[in-house]
Amino acid sequence: MAQELQTTSNLVHTQVPSREKLIADIKRLKKEKNAVILAHYYQEEAIQSIADYLGDSLYLAKKAAEIDAEIIVFAGVHFMAETAKIINPSKKVVLPDLKAGCSLADSCPPNDFAQFKKQYPEAIVVTYINCSAEIKALSDVVCTSSNAIKVIESIPEDRQIIFAPDKNLGRYLIKQTGRDMILWDGACIVHEAFSFEKIVKLAKEYPQAKFIAHPESESQVLDIAHYIGSTSGLLDFVQKDETNTFIVATEAGILHEMKKRCPGKIFIPAPVDDDTCACSECAFMKLNTLDKLHRCLLNESPEIILDEALIESARLPIERMLAIH
Ligand code: 13P
Ligand code: SF4
Repeated sequence: MAQELQTTSNLVHTQVPSREKLIADIKRLKKEKNAVILAHYYQEEAIQSIADYLGDSLYLAKKAAEIDAEIIVFAGVHFMAETAKIINPSKKVVLPDLKAGCSLADSCPPNDFAQFKKQYPEAIVVTYINCSAEIKALSDVVCTSSNAIKVIESIPEDRQIIFAPDKNLGRYLIKQTGRDMILWDGACIVHEAFSFEKIVKLAKEYPQAKFIAHPESESQVLDIAHYIGSTSGLLDFVQKDETNTFIVATEAGILHEMKKRCPGKIFIPAPVDDDTCACSECAFMKLNTLDKLHRCLLNESPEIILDEALIESARLPIERMLAIH
């Protein structure tokens, strides 16, 4: 009998659990451990479906600040989970895959940025939330693509502004606000992969379609967009606009929620330069899987651990942003 039990138990461990079982286990563990799942629109569909809260960076940051549960499982990338820990430090924040980083955050190393900042001692430092806790700690105020215009407009006209790390969002904000900002030279590999020429060609094939884009895309791509906005802005637009077909220049994961909200409409991912890659998928976001999410909830690991002093200095710029919006 013992042998039989042993065999059965071995079998259980080597079998890949079915998707249904994983989902059922995640739901059970969430209750048992008093945990909530926050997910970004770029996560795989199964993760979006199981999340307690699904949204853009701003929404998720606000939710993270309010959460009362013991554990926050952050199905997104590292800077998002880090932000949750900074604004709600008494909670255990776990991320399904610690390697889920962000090319934009990586394009701004703290030591280099500290040197850069020294050249403009009078400037107000505004940073896009897609950056590390160390960069946030070097900032005056944080913003997301949802509230960036408001944040810039809240700064007195006579103050010089440094904007980091995204030069594409920075250029877009300069056009929108008329403020002459000093830009850090960073970018997102996913949004820089869209091909202007192929988008123009595709738009000719679908003359009724509207082209919509995330502001992390390059200027020439944004210049031809009918609408530019954050992930939640893009979702609102496709819901409210009467057009039936949209060419979408942002990470492909958003199409899931777009199709869910607008079942009768057609969404075409904007083409990328390299036909051989799935470049409009964020490889970092897609490191999180349902299986890893299950394991991370079960083991309460990998956990986001931050130095208390870093939490303190990175919190104020985020709180300033939350007070503006
Ligand atoms: P949103 O805040 O618009 O969801 O953007 C997050 C992001 O990482 C875009 O690449
Ligand atoms: Fe970072 Fe770009 Fe991925 Fe967004 S899409 S998380 S900016 S690498």
